[in-house]
Amino acid sequence: MTKAEAKLPVAILVPGHFNDHAIGRIDKAFQRVRIERADPSLVTGEMREAVRGIACFGGINAAVIDALPNLEIIANFGVGYDSVDAGHAAKRGVMVTNTPDVLTEEVADTTIGLLINTVREMYAAEKWLRDGDWVKKGNYRLSRLTLRGRTIGIFGMGRIGLAVAHRIEAFGLPIAYHNRRKVEGLPYEYHATLKGLAEAVDTLICIAPGGASTEKAINAEILSALGPNGVFVNIGRGSTVDEAALAAALEKGAIAAAGLDVFADEPNVPQALLDAPNTSLLPHVGSASDHTRRAMADLCVDNLISWFGQRRPLTPVPETISVKPRA
Ligand code: NAP
Ligand code: 8YV
Repeated sequence: MTKAEAKLPVAILVPGHFNDHAIGRIDKAFQRVRIERADPSLVTGEMREAVRGIACFGGINAAVIDALPNLEIIANFGVGYDSVDAGHAAKRGVMVTNTPDVLTEEVADTTIGLLINTVREMYAAEKWLRDGDWVKKGNYRLSRLTLRGRTIGIFGMGRIGLAVAHRIEAFGLPIAYHNRRKVEGLPYEYHATLKGLAEAVDTLICIAPGGASTEKAINAEILSALGPNGVFVNIGRGSTVDEAALAAALEKGAIAAAGLDVFADEPNVPQALLDAPNTSLLPHVGSASDHTRRAMADLCVDNLISWFGQRRPLTPVPETISVKPRA
């Protein structure tokens, strides 16, 4: 690299719409390169040569990585990186970073809100008041479900799962969990299988990552194991649920209710879930406060700054932990 080239700001590709605070910081430290979406057919010859980093909300597949031969790092805005092909990035010597920890408490708060709303019908009760039905028709009906007496199962006892469990403890409810590996030192009952967990509890909270290992893990068999008093809450990824089986389970009363923040094909929500009885549906707002999205934006951009400044990532994903910076 010549002296003149060394002075050029590093080019960072930012596909589509991105977080405003992150954009402001990228523009101060780098040369931002816009592209409508992460599609290799939109990569120009100039981008191919110049781009050394990507900042994104996921959506980076192997073809995009291959279209950028000088790519060194993909800084994902979000802790879940199931839509970034991190395995392929590792093979190509490309670092992938995510935004763990800074969103954990916010997402745990949202999970509890979604759980209570699903069980105690807060949205429907408020709508009753706002629509004037309290005056016209009298009291809102008693909720059929309650948190009292429930046993909570957590599928994905990681950072967020643990923060949810800490909150549930304060509610005085027993907790069990399923991960591929038992977490040593945790006071909660471990189940080696998801089916075993679903059989043991009546309230299942999914906060596991998306991707091949959890694809449609919540299926008709798991929902039937949860039972007719069962409540299912998903704050992890929509891909983890067989949505047709969930809608059918709600329709025929195989489970009692579901609260969903995530869907398989966002922002599209299957009509069967919109029509299903006893659902509380949120548009993927688990981490969506100004405070937390700003912290996520900072960590996303700090990873880029650290990589191109100190030549090390702050929060690399496990698949690319061994990727070394190029000379
Ligand atoms: P984390 O600390 O990595 O926890 C993930 C947990 O899931 C780990 O305990 C892991 O344990 C378990 N797990 C992974 N694959 C599994 C499998 N195939 N079967 C069973 N358990 C499995 O991640 P986190 O920070 O808690 O975040 C979890 C996920 O939440 C993210 O990946 C993202 O998809 C989702 N999320 C959603 C929102 C939202 O807005 N709705 C916001 C933030 C995060 P083992 O490895 O032992 O299996
Ligand atoms: C964000 C998330 O909504 O961190 C994650 O995995 O799902 C959420 O915090 C998302 O990453 C922003 O696109």
